[in-house]
Parts: sequence; C-alpha cells; structure tokens
Amino acid sequence: MRKIGIVGIGHVGSTVAHIIIAQGLADELILVDKNTAKLAADELDFRDAASLLRNHVTVYAGTANDLADADLVISALGHIDLIKPGGDRFTELKANTPEVQQVGNDLKKVGFNGVLIVISNPVDVITGMYQKFTGLPTNQVFGTGTYLDTARLKRVLGEALDVDPRSVKGYMLGEHGDSQFAAWSTVQILGQDIQTLVSRYNLDLDKIANDARVGGFTVFNGKKYTNFAIAHAAVSLAQLVLSDARSEAIVSHYDDKFKSYISTPAIIGRGGVVQTFNLPLTSDEETALQHSADAISEKTIDYL
Ligand code: 2OP
Repeated sequence: MRKIGIVGIGHVGSTVAHIIIAQGLADELILVDKNTAKLAADELDFRDAASLLRNHVTVYAGTANDLADADLVISALGHIDLIKPGGDRFTELKANTPEVQQVGNDLKKVGFNGVLIVISNPVDVITGMYQKFTGLPTNQVFGTGTYLDTARLKRVLGEALDVDPRSVKGYMLGEHGDSQFAAWSTVQILGQDIQTLVSRYNLDLDKIANDARVGGFTVFNGKKYTNFAIAHAAVSLAQLVLSDARSEAIVSHYDDKFKSYISTPAIIGRGGVVQTFNLPLTSDEETALQHSADAISEKTIDYL
C-alpha cells in the first residue's frame, strides 16, 4: 500500500493531490489542512472523480494521526498571500514557522518515520526546521529547492534553442531564491557544453539565468501564486522515493559543508536522499554556492 499525506491543501497542495490521483501514484492519500471546510470540499470533489479514474485511490481528509504509517508526507502549507510582487519567499518565514513547528512535532508524536518532502517556503530554511522538529534523520527530510528553478532554466534554454526542455542537462544551484545561480559548467544541450553554443545561438547567459531565477515571480505576478510546476516537481520527487529510483535530482538537502539545507544534486530513493556527491564546479561557482549559503543564513536572521 503506497500511502501519501499532503499537509496544506491550498493551490499547491490540492494540485499535488490532483496529480497524484490522476497518475495513480498512491493507494491511499490523506489530506491535512487547518481549513476543515475546504478540506471536506476537496475530499468530496476528489471522491466525485473516483468512478472516472483508471486507478483506485482512497482519498480522505485526516490529521497528523493518520500519517503515522505514511510512506511519504509532502508539506505544501504556506502563506503566499503575504508575498509582494518582486518580493522574497522569506516573507512567509515568520507566518509559516509556528505551523511548521506544530506539524513537525505532531509527526514526531505519532511516530512518522517515512520521507518528508518540503515545498513550503522559504524552502531551504523550512526544510531544516522540519528536520529539527520531526527529529528525522537528515536524509529523510528534503525540499524541492532549485529542482523547480532548474526546470525553469531548461524551459528558457529550450525556448532559446527551440528544443524540448528535457534535452537540456544542468543545474540551478543554491537557495530557492534570489541568490540561486546557473552552474553553467554543468549545462549541456544535446551533448554539447552550453559555452560552445553561445555564439551560434547568440545566447545571453546572464539574462537566461535571471529569467529562470525570477520565473516563479513572473508567474506569481500574473495570478498571485504558482502551483502547476511546483506540484509536478514535488510529485516527480515523490515518485523517485516510492519507486526507490536511486535517481539523481537537484533538491534542498542537508549539506555538511554549509551545515544547512541548500540545493545541490543528490541521489533520491526509498530512504529519501540516499547518496550525495561532490559536483565538480568552477571556482566562481563554488564561490556563488558559498554566497548562496551565506544569504540563506543571513536572511533567516533578518526575517525571523
Ligand atoms: C515557486 O517558485 C512555489 O517557490 C515556488 O513556484
């Protein structure tokens, strides 16, 4: 029985639920939210779809008590309403902190020992908080981090070269926020280093990296939240966990070097982050990663 819990059933959480149900990725799906009226309505709405689906999924509104034996919990709680256009995801930190503490303590109390995937922002700091409050081993708690920003980089480059974004390899690293950067030494398209393509396609790499970096706010400015891409990011990571894929992904995981959560590539499997490895970066990229780690810790102090 594949059992998944989603905590926070707003735009993102309900989209995560919808994708999991539509793709048949769980046998049991528990929805948890403080807004019990919305929770009951979503539960009923999903159940109304049951006879129209290829797969059977038992969907119900629950509480942390129902998550004790879940294989996977996804945290999508947040206060996106606090974010201003061009703002910072750290704006949600103060409002999210007590809720994260409550959920983390509840998961610890019920003995949850599965994998916790964190979407809630500012995701690098919130993931570290969840690890602390749940007391779970660091490998069992990771955040979506720059997995989504990397997808945005692939979208921008795919459009620039008129290729499927899945043909783009490489990473945005660091904070899921302003200090993230494109590690160009890791970026390849159709097996060619990006640097060899700059002149042929007249690429402005700084603009491309910035378009990826601000991609979340570009969407936010149009509809005051984002949900589809971040939900697909979380669900594809959930699939790597449940299938024990032991596949490479860029996630916000605990990095001993920085003593904090930050996005660099890791191997994802049943145990969460099952392996990490040192990415060969240029010295400028190493400096940018250190700067990003510093930015995360400095903003944590400023915003808390
Ligand atoms: C985003 O960038 C929600 O922070 C997430 O879309």
